Amino acid sequence: MNLASMNLSTGDLSGENVMQTVRTLGDMKGLYADEAARAGMPQDTVLYRTFWAEGEPEGTEGALLYGTTVLEPGLVGDEFFMTRGHFHALRNRAEFCLTISGEGALILMDEQRRTRMERMTPGSLHVAPGHTAHRVANTGSGPLTFLVVWPADCGHDYEEIEKNGFSRRLRNINGVPQLV
Ligand SMILES: [Fe+2]
Repeated sequence: MNLASMNLSTGDLSGENVMQTVRTLGDMKGLYADEAARAGMPQDTVLYRTFWAEGEPEGTEGALLYGTTVLEPGLVGDEFFMTRGHFHALRNRAEFCLTISGEGALILMDEQRRTRMERMTPGSLHVAPGHTAHRVANTGSGPLTFLVVWPADCGHDYEEIEKNGFSRRLRNINGVPQLV
């Protein structure tokens, strides 16, 4: 039985078991380099919406969960709009990502704090390996939409990133996205 379906134009998931989370600029305190710029913007600005299909309970070993994210374009100072980013609580758990539309970057940082990025373009496939924090930034002019599949037992450690951040940030340097 097909429990949910995705609108390939918008990235929205629909179905009886689909939930949605909205993150605004107000939810991102301290996550951008230029906190004053973030605080000076309308706090109800929607950064991203995440849709996920309720499946097996979180924590179920061997099960997979999936969802889509619609990340809006924009800048805080010279830093591209991005998701909060996290390690998995079970550090060895990986995650799969497919870009549906838009332009962006998957930013990956290992436990030695080495940060790299993979360009996201429609149809690009990505794996965030285990032991690797991941976040997505939108470098385009329209929404960036992508599908993510993750192990139901991975758990999410947002605190490490809230505390120590990533070692590099994706900035708009004279119109060119660069990890700095
Ligand atoms: Fe993840």
